[in-house]
Amino acid sequence: MKIRDNIAAMAGYVPGEQPRSQDMIKLNTNESPYPPSPAVFEAIQRVLTGDSLRKYPDPIGSEFRKAAATVLGVEPDMILPGNGSDDLLTIITRTFVPEGGLLVSPTPSYILYKNLAEIQGARFTQIPFDLDWKLPTSWPTPDADLTFIPNPNSPSGTFLSHEELRNVHRQLSGPLVIDEAYVDFAPKNAIPLVREGAIITRTLSKSYALAGIRFGYAVADAKLIHEFIKVKDSYNCDVVSLAAASAAILDQDYLRSVCDKIIDTRHRSEKELKALGFQVTPSHTNFLWCHHERMAAKPIYDRLREDKILVRYMNYGSFGDGLRISIGSDHEMDRLMTSLRNFL
Ligand SMILES: Cc1ncc(COP(=O)(O)O)c(C=O)c1O
Repeated sequence: MKIRDNIAAMAGYVPGEQPRSQDMIKLNTNESPYPPSPAVFEAIQRVLTGDSLRKYPDPIGSEFRKAAATVLGVEPDMILPGNGSDDLLTIITRTFVPEGGLLVSPTPSYILYKNLAEIQGARFTQIPFDLDWKLPTSWPTPDADLTFIPNPNSPSGTFLSHEELRNVHRQLSGPLVIDEAYVDFAPKNAIPLVREGAIITRTLSKSYALAGIRFGYAVADAKLIHEFIKVKDSYNCDVVSLAAASAAILDQDYLRSVCDKIIDTRHRSEKELKALGFQVTPSHTNFLWCHHERMAAKPIYDRLREDKILVRYMNYGSFGDGLRISIGSDHEMDRLMTSLRNFL
């Protein structure tokens, strides 16, 4: 059996650990500590008691496209739903990047981009952030087939302004994807840049508390969405997730109240971590990227794990390592601080 060389050579993406035991405080994959909107449960209930499970879903998710378009102030044909935003990142890569082509992202950032390049048999170049988490003003890879910039970024939680994004975009001959997985926790989104040709991807896994149903969407010029539809699986979103996501995105009041609560907890947690001797990068997300002044990141991760608190230890080789801590409920963050106080 001949496996394609690029697949045989790659290690494969390793997602954050998903322990099945309920007694772990889970602060490692940026899920919401709060439930989704009550409207989501009602929408799922309607699907389960109706007749739709028997039939295929709407292939392009028209109801969701209409709902999202209203909320974002764009046209429905500028929206493409996906099975999580990872699905959209895959569709976009397959659309633009030929075998041997070039895919680019900043580093340290979302690790999956590298795997998408590897699967495609493409080259992958990483553009390093500087020490202030800024990108080079003169962009080194203007001819890339596709460039991903997560904004806000993971693991840093830092945020680039429209001007900084525009500066990169202007230099590119190929498309720019702004991965806005965490944008609901940030001061601004990049929807205005879509009119200038940028592509945006979003997820309902974080701010909407729907990681379990797998749902994301892309926003782009309708002509590009038309091309993406050719590449995607025919039915990439199921009836349950489409109904849940449509209800979730229409309940913006609930979204804001949950995000505001998480941001409050983030502010408090940042202060408490600093008081414990951590250097914490200012965050515009639902997580904090930090290093302790005296103790290495890995042993802190290990000690927290022994206390049944799971955070994300990330090692970026020459860029160093650190802890990425998702913002949990106030109670969960209190447990984290108590545990840290006990051994630091
Ligand atoms: C920057 C970034 N983009 C995309 C995703 C994927 O989100 P989804 O759950 O919608 O696939 C994540 C998830 O951690 C992320 O951190």
